[in-house]
Amino acid sequence: MNEPVVLGIESSCDETGVALVRGTTLLGDSLASSVDEHVRFGGVVPEVASRAHLEAIIPTIERACDDAGLTLADVDAIAVTAGPGLAGALMVGVSSAKALAWALDKPLYGVNHLCAHVCADVLDHGPLPEPTMALLVSGGHTDLLLVRDIVTDVQALGRTIDDAAGEAFDKVARVLGVPYPGGPHLDRLAQQGDPTAIRFPRGLTSARDLEKHRFDFSFSGLKTAVVRWVQQRQQDGLDVPLADVAASFSAAVADVLTRKAIDACQEFGINDLQIGGGVTANTQLRTMAEERCAAAGISLRVPRVRLCTDNGAMVAALGAQVVARGVPPTSLALGTDSSLPVSTSFVA
Ligand code: KG4
Ligand code: ZN
Repeated sequence: MNEPVVLGIESSCDETGVALVRGTTLLGDSLASSVDEHVRFGGVVPEVASRAHLEAIIPTIERACDDAGLTLADVDAIAVTAGPGLAGALMVGVSSAKALAWALDKPLYGVNHLCAHVCADVLDHGPLPEPTMALLVSGGHTDLLLVRDIVTDVQALGRTIDDAAGEAFDKVARVLGVPYPGGPHLDRLAQQGDPTAIRFPRGLTSARDLEKHRFDFSFSGLKTAVVRWVQQRQQDGLDVPLADVAASFSAAVADVLTRKAIDACQEFGINDLQIGGGVTANTQLRTMAEERCAAAGISLRVPRVRLCTDNGAMVAALGAQVVARGVPPTSLALGTDSSLPVSTSFVA
């Protein structure tokens, strides 16, 4: 028997994503981004994002169906990001999903954005090994997750105690006069620089910090260190070597992320590490993760970049896993939860 077709909707931040998935196969997807509308503000403006979702949602659903060569009549279930994320932005996706579920008389599943990021990988590499260690690095999150079962058992081992990794990239970029979002620009600059030129601090890695924050991250001290270093150069009337700063900063981020992720794998005896989220596009992070995993005998799974950034496919992929377990659908009274904990993979 054919597995059900799940339509997934993502609207937690600045991307409106819709996709159709059957099992672990991506049938079609579509994405609309409001990122250009946030550039002049140097960060995502929630009201602007919500308005953009409203305008994009119906055309994006239509394009995803066209891409899959299917119609809404072929859809067996609807999955939607219920949280975490921006309240108004989430509301657009959740309201649309509820309307579709009601109109098509199909079951609705509210799912967790962070678990969906992890689940995106099944579309590229098949079912997740269980247990898997997952490192999620984006503009909104930096989480280290112990995934024993993506539907029923996801445990947060650590998270950032201040800025997310992508947020640190965006803030440092602003200081260097690089446009938003800073990650991709700094990545390009870094490739011309020397990652060992400046020794920037590695947050929460001292013996004392590790006692309390073994698997947590902190990037705000690093950001301040970069700002101070740049200001000092300017005060001294010296040029700021942008490429070296970008490379040394990125190296500090990639070093801590990969070190803690591998330590967690070793401490919990886990052989598989999965990395997701927009910062996964970062060249140094990818290279360092590959080298260090190979040295530690850990197998690394990183989905293609399009599946790492926010998208509808990851939501449909998690929806398909939830449906496959035969759990009861979420009520049409589903609300949004800006701080939905990662331990709640789907809303019962
Ligand atoms: O996952 P994502 O698309 O959106 C969420 O934040 O949920 O991640 C976007 C973040 C931004 O902060 C952006 O600067 C960062 O990912 N990013 C990168 C790179 N590409 C995107 N950071 C470092 N290097 C990159 N190549
Ligand atoms: Zn995300």
